[in-house]
Amino acid sequence: MPPKKKMIHEFMKMKQDGQKIAWLTAYDFPTAQFAEAAGLDMLLVGDSLGMCVYGYPGTIPVTMDQCIYHAEAVRRGAPNTFVIGDMPFMSYQSSIEKAVENAGRFLKEAGCDAIKLEGGKRILPQVRAILDAGIVVVGHIGLTPQSSGQLGGHKAQGRTVESAKLLIDDALALEEAGAQMLLLEAVPPEVGQFIAKKLRIPVLSIGAGMHCDGQLLIVSDLIGQFQAFTPKFVKKYANVAEVVTQAMRAYCEDVRAGRFPEEGHCYYMLPGEDEKFKELIKRYA
Ligand code: KIV
Repeated sequence: MPPKKKMIHEFMKMKQDGQKIAWLTAYDFPTAQFAEAAGLDMLLVGDSLGMCVYGYPGTIPVTMDQCIYHAEAVRRGAPNTFVIGDMPFMSYQSSIEKAVENAGRFLKEAGCDAIKLEGGKRILPQVRAILDAGIVVVGHIGLTPQSSGQLGGHKAQGRTVESAKLLIDDALALEEAGAQMLLLEAVPPEVGQFIAKKLRIPVLSIGAGMHCDGQLLIVSDLIGQFQAFTPKFVKKYANVAEVVTQAMRAYCEDVRAGRFPEEGHCYYMLPGEDEKFKELIKRYA
């Protein structure tokens, strides 16, 4: 029996029951299949695909079309998992109409269950309009990579009382506007704990400590595939880069030494055809 897809009310129930939510990014079909088989509760088709898949220096160049292509593949790979599409830079900031249209694309074209967007009070009009269109919204505050220029780089947030207060006010405003989940990125655990306790909706953490209602990691970090840098909040569970590079190195060596392919890798002539083939090639002598 395939697993039953958990929906938003089940995540609310998990919070109430003190059951932690396991969330991971995915960008392609095979990874989504692995994630569903592993029992992840939710998947995020994050704009981190810009760095993890396309090799961009950040998330800014990522387009809506790229997000949709990857979300479609993830949906096909994980048909029974709650999939959230991440709204890329400039897909929602410039107008409310654009925000609703692009949020709708994740559902219509890619079959996503929800969308995520970065920002607190300053994007409340967009959040309200997307909710009015009947779309589940996940907020994202703290270190918000799309506005890292304003934050002075990829820096942890909420480490002073003044900045923690801004986060708490943003979190309350998002819940009040109707957001159904909230992601906190790179904030102190005591701030994560306070916000998770204060809000009724599930509060997820990526680098916001152990007291939140669940955790998110970037799959490329978790499996040890992303090489450029490793944030403090990452736990690596595998070293895929090493395994894959070693496999490729061994392949090069086998090809160069004539050890690959072997007999078992070959397609032989059909029965009775080999003698006729020998006759055929004599004519080319
Ligand atoms: O794009 C993404 O994967 C994200 C996480 C960094 C939170 O938004």
